Amino acid sequence: MKKTYGNITVCIYETYDEMSEHAAAFFADEIKRAPGSVLGFATGSTPVGMYRALAGMNKQGEIDFSRVRATFNLDEYYPINKTDAQSYYYFMADNLFDHINIDRSVIHIPNGQAADPAAEAKSYEQQIAAAGGIDLQLLGIGANGHIGFNEPGECFISDTHVVTLTPSTIDANSRFFDSPEAVPKQALTMGIKTIMSAKKILLVCASESKAGILRDAVTGDITPKLPASILKLHADVTVMTDAAAGKYL
Ligand code: F6R
Repeated sequence: MKKTYGNITVCIYETYDEMSEHAAAFFADEIKRAPGSVLGFATGSTPVGMYRALAGMNKQGEIDFSRVRATFNLDEYYPINKTDAQSYYYFMADNLFDHINIDRSVIHIPNGQAADPAAEAKSYEQQIAAAGGIDLQLLGIGANGHIGFNEPGECFISDTHVVTLTPSTIDANSRFFDSPEAVPKQALTMGIKTIMSAKKILLVCASESKAGILRDAVTGDITPKLPASILKLHADVTVMTDAAAGKYL
């Protein structure tokens, strides 16, 4: 089922697997249309099925990642080692990059081991600009409405920056760690302006626990208290959800 809310197109699929197949096809179409695209990726539970589908399409010869100009991930914990199984660096290799024919040198993920995280954030922003900006950015949405690690607050922060994670995000992400105490307290994240500068955005969302926040983001007021609400100001946003997360839309 397809619906529009202002500039946002919402596609609701019965199951998570169906949503994942369509999200993968959306990325595949972009790569077929423009093989030298700059792609923005996200981590988290939601895109795992989409990455699996993309890897399958690549294996079948349906899509070719070899000419992708650059990829930029939204965020990374700070501090964290690349070899740490909880790092987003590790996640991307494990879920996507190890399974597709992409040139490793075009992959960018904020460096969770940087000595100077503020300098790393600045350099990351410059690298995105040098690549000509992001053509298609994938997003998830946090239980508190965050996109990337742009947490609810009093104002929108524009560029890639260092952020202190909120207790609710630490709690939500502790499922991947041994304990909440083991979750890094900070992260490097693209800012709201970085995300909004992407030419096209695909947000994937699944499970009933996200239904309320997704409805508020898509139909409510634009406020930094719900960072994803800013997407209403973007000209080209597609939201794909399973039926459970889309039940109020
Ligand atoms: C991940 C990211 C986060 C997640 C969000 C949803 O790179 O930036 O904003 O997209 O926390 O995560 P899941 O999909 O695990 O519910």
